[in-house]
Amino acid sequence: MINNAALLRKPTLTGENLRLVPLSPRHAESFWRATQDPESRRLTGSRRDFTLADIEHWCATRADQPERLDLAIEDLDGRYLGELALIDLDRDSRSAAFRIALAPTAAGRGLGTEATRLLLDHAFTAVGLHRVHLEVFDYNPRAQRAYQKAGFTLEGRLRQAHHWDGQWHDTLLMAALATEWRAATPTPAAT
Ligand SMILES: CC(C)(COP(=O)(O)OP(=O)(O)OC[C@H]1O[C@@H](n2cnc3c(N)ncnc32)[C@H](O)[C@@H]1OP(=O)(O)O)[C@@H](O)C(=O)NCCC(=O)NCCS
Repeated sequence: MINNAALLRKPTLTGENLRLVPLSPRHAESFWRATQDPESRRLTGSRRDFTLADIEHWCATRADQPERLDLAIEDLDGRYLGELALIDLDRDSRSAAFRIALAPTAAGRGLGTEATRLLLDHAFTAVGLHRVHLEVFDYNPRAQRAYQKAGFTLEGRLRQAHHWDGQWHDTLLMAALATEWRAATPTPAAT
């Protein structure tokens, strides 16, 4: 069963180098700035132009969403590093989709892998999900590698599913399962 409280009460999850905290209006300006970066837009396939007011509204309404979980990624001093989310919840099959975008200056330092692991742990152990899945473009090998390190397995390839800058690209499907997560994560008693 899905633990509704774990979805509705937005958690703070602390790792070795970063913290996941409820996305809120204090993140809006840094979040908005990251959405303006052309390379981030290419890597996430973002076509829509958001104003700062759009993002402020978005951040202000995340606390009241019972069917999804939006968290900001901060360093341990509270500086914004990016954001991630569990979305598209399927309660019957206990699955959800995952998305993440670090600010450009935060990428390539292991933080995406760490943040993804923290969220997967929460998804499986607190929310009660059985499966977390994602899509990633074939031209984003850094994300593919980070997802693989965090526990995702490549499941498939949607051929030429994505059109960007006049070219067709494949979209890769990856997923992580609770059973695999538990098997790979030693329980305190076993350590
Ligand atoms: C995707 C993202 C979350 C990954 O987080 P990150 O902190 O940058 O990644 P990490 O440093 O944890 O891991 C990256 C891994 O990819 C490897 N890598 C980097 N560039 C690579 C490339 N061109 N080809 C293959 N591997 C690459 C790194 O060496 C590292 O692997 P290693 O630890 O085995 O050496 C982050 O880069 C990001 O948000 N980028 C912008 C938006 C985006 O791409 N979002 C995902 C959309 S699906």
